[in-house]
Amino acid sequence: MVKKEMAPEEAYRLLTPGCVVLVGSQKHGRPNVMAASWQMPVSRKPPLVAVAVAKKHLTAEYVRASFAFTLNVPGYGLLDRVHFCGTVSGRDVDKFSAAGLTPVAGRKVAAPLVAECVAGVECRLWNTYDGGDHWIFVGEVVAAEVTPECFEGRWTFKAKEHFPVHHLGGTAYAVTGSLAEVHKRGEGWVVVEKAVP
Ligand SMILES: Cc1cc2nc3c(=O)[nH]c(=O)nc-3n(C[C@H](O)[C@H](O)[C@H](O)COP(=O)(O)O)c2cc1C
Repeated sequence: MVKKEMAPEEAYRLLTPGCVVLVGSQKHGRPNVMAASWQMPVSRKPPLVAVAVAKKHLTAEYVRASFAFTLNVPGYGLLDRVHFCGTVSGRDVDKFSAAGLTPVAGRKVAAPLVAECVAGVECRLWNTYDGGDHWIFVGEVVAAEVTPECFEGRWTFKAKEHFPVHHLGGTAYAVTGSLAEVHKRGEGWVVVEKAVP
């Protein structure tokens, strides 16, 4: 996917609202990718994002070793591969290869981006917090990229295959299928639905 570079300070908008992401990491040049829905922006200045990764996951080992990770936003068209990356460990399988996903070297960090995703956020590990059975990795966004047809200052999805997916648990996902805007009317707001081709 062709992407345009964007300001790290604006990358938080790529992660709103709480969609499933693919976390890219690597160790000794070996890339890995896992699905994560426990992610969120946490600061605009400096631009910081956080993701909770179970301590037992290979991704946790890789992030702690390389001090870097990427958060990649997959579209609905990748849902089968996203679920695969969320149910199989990189300890057992080369997930990039098995899922037919393409690792692309980060511009600024030693962690792979996922070429097929609509956006990618590169993070340098800023801090690690003990979150029980998860590590909460806070990353400083040092680079970000997005597919231009999906983002003009905010998400502007034009095709269903690009829409973000939200994990409901188990094998169930919610897929956004429509866009809406709110228009000021009097003291209140009116919702106007927009057609998606
Ligand atoms: C949709 C989805 C979301 C997930 N979100 C998270 C998450 O936020 N944090 C986490 O630690 N694991 C999460 N998982 C589980 C990991 O992706 C899964 O255990 C994966 O196999 C770990 O891979 P790894 O051992 O290669 O790092 C999620 C799984 C799915 C299917």
